Amino acid sequence: MPALPKWASDPRGKIPEKYERWIEELSDCREDVRAGRLKKKDFDKLARQRLGVGGGVTHAIYTVMRNRVQMTGDDDFRIPKHGGKPERLPSLRSWDRETEVFAEGLTWDHPQADSVKDLIQRRTAVFKEKYERKKREKITNVRVRMNGPIAITHLGDPHVDADGCNWPELIKAVETISKTEGMYAGNIGDTTNNWVGSLQRLYADQSSTFEEGVRLAEWLLTSVPWLYVILGNHDSWNNGSTLVKQILRRGSVATCTAGTARIELTFPKGDPIRIMAKHDFKGTSSWNRIHGPMKAAKLDPWADIYVSGHKHHWAQHIHEGMDGKPRYSMTVRGYKYCDAYADVGGWYDHDLGSSCTTILNPTATSKTERIRCIWDVEEAAEYLRWVRRRQGYAS
Ligand SMILES: [Fe+2]
Ligand SMILES: [Fe+2]
Repeated sequence: MPALPKWASDPRGKIPEKYERWIEELSDCREDVRAGRLKKKDFDKLARQRLGVGGGVTHAIYTVMRNRVQMTGDDDFRIPKHGGKPERLPSLRSWDRETEVFAEGLTWDHPQADSVKDLIQRRTAVFKEKYERKKREKITNVRVRMNGPIAITHLGDPHVDADGCNWPELIKAVETISKTEGMYAGNIGDTTNNWVGSLQRLYADQSSTFEEGVRLAEWLLTSVPWLYVILGNHDSWNNGSTLVKQILRRGSVATCTAGTARIELTFPKGDPIRIMAKHDFKGTSSWNRIHGPMKAAKLDPWADIYVSGHKHHWAQHIHEGMDGKPRYSMTVRGYKYCDAYADVGGWYDHDLGSSCTTILNPTATSKTERIRCIWDVEEAAEYLRWVRRRQGYAS
């Protein structure tokens, strides 16, 4: 057998140009040579016939075609040590390159990110669904099943876990509402203190724990039928709003929101009555404590009754709107009667007005008597019983 030139025996040897041409002319035989289907003597004969070269040349060409996968010197190609088919070993750095061929004939599919068009279509569907729900939930329609007047007692900020919570007043309200036919409640927010962040130090200044606060809130939220429960700033801290909503699953409430509750009550007889409740309407005035709800009643005259809390004082205002309908604005004081924050801030204490009851009389002949505000809950219950009896709905 003729001796091999050094470039042919070395797997990385540079193949001379004229040999590269000859190899190219015999490229149709390469797979058969590599797979062993074309024997050496048959290849010699074939190569001599087609190229007109001698045995030394065909021997070198055969060796190169048999042992090299690629006919150029590529570092990624190796000759197996112990015989067998040549294989290509991937370099490690190629694994993180998308769609790179790391072994002959093998590729892999890289997961494709969504196109921007798909992304926009999906975001559009999410927006439409969210916007429709917002419009649907903007107004809560409440159908009153019973005939005759009803009453809504708007409870001011309860702060049930505060040491300064006026429990005698709160119990009086809850008992009166729960035992009076046609009487319902509204909660203007701040059910518990629910201190957050640096304010959590204030738990040291109150004798009830967080857990006790949750149990007291549960008692309040499941003791009366609620027309609305507003989530005040205290309720919204931490995960307080979720806690209140979960408790309300065991109670009864038409709407619960951290924003503005817009409620339209429809009755078996008479025109609907609308209530707008918010923890605190925008706007303050040193000379007019009812400024926020009044401003809302003038700028957004959708409702008949505007009620808020938060500031722990009470006030009321009635005015006739441009449409000839009376509008009632009120802010309720709530039950936190001892408040170091208010003491230090210098706000004078109000001693009255923890809640306000609106008597709704949809069939009243006088426009001024469709709604009546009474600031004592027991007096309001008495008036409700009387006015229902007068209309033949109670004995
Ligand atoms: Fe409050
Ligand atoms: Fe508040």
